[in-house]
Amino acid sequence: MKIALITGITGQDGAYLSEFLLNKKYIVHGIKRRTSQFNTQRIDHLFNKQKKLKKPKFFLHHGDLNDSLSIQNLIKKIKPNEIYNLAAQSHVAVSFEQPEYTANSDAIGVLRILESVRILGLKKTKIYQAGTSEMFGKVLETPQTEKTPFYPRSPYGVAKVYGHWISINYREAYNMFVSNGILFNHESPLRGETFVTKKIIQSLVRIKLGSKEKLVLGNLYSKRDWGHAKDYVEAMWRILQYQKPDDFVIATGKQYTIKQFVNLVAKKLKMQISWKGKGINEKGFLGKKNIISLSKKYFRPSEVDSLIGDSSKAKKLIKWRPKYDIKKLIDEMVEFEFKNISKY
Ligand code: NAP
Ligand code: GDD
Repeated sequence: MKIALITGITGQDGAYLSEFLLNKKYIVHGIKRRTSQFNTQRIDHLFNKQKKLKKPKFFLHHGDLNDSLSIQNLIKKIKPNEIYNLAAQSHVAVSFEQPEYTANSDAIGVLRILESVRILGLKKTKIYQAGTSEMFGKVLETPQTEKTPFYPRSPYGVAKVYGHWISINYREAYNMFVSNGILFNHESPLRGETFVTKKIIQSLVRIKLGSKEKLVLGNLYSKRDWGHAKDYVEAMWRILQYQKPDDFVIATGKQYTIKQFVNLVAKKLKMQISWKGKGINEKGFLGKKNIISLSKKYFRPSEVDSLIGDSSKAKKLIKWRPKYDIKKLIDEMVEFEFKNISKY
């Protein structure tokens, strides 16, 4: 029975990956941070189900990527076959407000894991590092592949570039099995509420149901390549099952602007939105009612304007194929919101 250790288990991808690995009969250990309120909502259903079994296969431990002792002690105790390093301060806008914290967890945090595995002499432990299309930033090539040079545009992107290269360095210097996923944006009903897809869907569903609120956004014209987290965690697992450590771009190969995403959600909700005005004064109307406006608050000091990935390598070598397209993704996210509306 394989043992996996997931950092960032309480996040969107951690929840989907836990479920995926438990279905594959792994024993799953996860690292969660101590917080003043419970932060395990995304995985409680898995934990509660496992708790009832004679031999549970799901375990949670307190730890923090910014605390090397906690990381080293847990790796020593668990001796995982596979480590999935998903923990990160993952919000690009927040990384401008907390650049040092972001560098500590997203860059040096990776080093802490690699060093722990090296020092402990766990030669068979494979490591997955959660890299991102944000590393391509101000893109130097379109579409982006594993060979496209990086040009990060945020403290988050810069920290992740360190995580990517230190992983390659440990692979080459110490012959460790360390692989990088370069994942483009992926969303789901479990997406954090301050990321743009979830924010748009939650707000438009509430407006559809009669809320008087306004949806306030930033840049409507950046383009993203959006997939579903369920497909992307399968890619993480496939990356570690490949015969050798390597780097893989995971993307759908299609891109949409934020405005197109709003229009697709509105279409699903049968809301006819018309747009008026330019620049910061652009507004979205439902009939005569202004329901969408823009605020400088949500623009970034430096933006990533356009991302679109080419995952031919992953298709060929690890046989990864996404099952969701943008329409299916939006359908699932919208339906989830309707079911959970009573929580608002
Ligand atoms: P997420 O929902 O924001 O989850 C991040 C996880 O990391 C949470 O469990 C969080 O814990 C934990 N965490 C944050 N700082 C930590 C620290 N210092 N020590 C330990 N844990 C810490 O992110 P996600 O969307 O699941 O993404 C997973 C990973 O993939 C991240 O590394 C992200 O940067 C990367 N990535 C994401 C995407 C995407 O589109 N989703 C694309 C490319 C790469 P709390 O629950 O306590 O906050
Ligand atoms: N969050 C947010 N909120 N973004 C907005 C808003 C808003 O109100 N209005 C416009 N945007 C624009 C952002 O400027 C950005 O261009 C785009 O919407 C997407 O923003 P996010 O959903 O916050 O995602 P991201 O692309 O910055 O980062 C996500 O994807 C990366 C992979 O490319 C995160 O999941 C990162 O962790 C991940 O690495």
